[in-house]
Amino acid sequence: MNLFKLRPSCTAVVGASPIPPGLRKEWMDRRISLCELSAKKLPEEGLWISLHGGVFDITSFLRGHPGGPQVLLSCAGGDATTAFDEVGHSRKAMDIALRRCIVGLMEDCEPSGFVSNAISRG
Ligand code: HEM
Repeated sequence: MNLFKLRPSCTAVVGASPIPPGLRKEWMDRRISLCELSAKKLPEEGLWISLHGGVFDITSFLRGHPGGPQVLLSCAGGDATTAFDEVGHSRKAMDIALRRCIVGLMEDCEPSGFVSNAISRG
């Protein structure tokens, strides 16, 4: 039997999306529930926060955060939008969040601020 022939074709189009694969970032298609977010508040389970309707995995950023790990730990598993905005985080901070941390979007929540801007940019 030729196993190579049994491999699914990489070019098969299943449920074709109007946006060509590769152009749309994966996090834009992933919806995360409040329940899923709130389970991510222990370093062993991973640490997630939501900001402006986006969900960010901050587990590996904890040590590198210029504001220290404690503030991130204290809001893990919940919405930290107000705290994040009150600090007046720079454009650079938002770029780090989008490049290194974002994993999805909150279910039933309209993205705002830098997250909705990133979606518009594509
Ligand atoms: C993905 C999420 C986050 C990223 C990527 C991030 C990144 C950064 C960066 C790059 C800075 C340096 C200053 C700047 O460039 O704005 C900073 C400072 C700081 N951040 Fe965050 N941050 C995040 C979330 C948070 C959250 C949720 C809080 C509050 C609960 C927080 C509190 C602070 C504080 C207190 C400072 C120090 C400000 C200062 O010394 O003036 N950060 N953060």
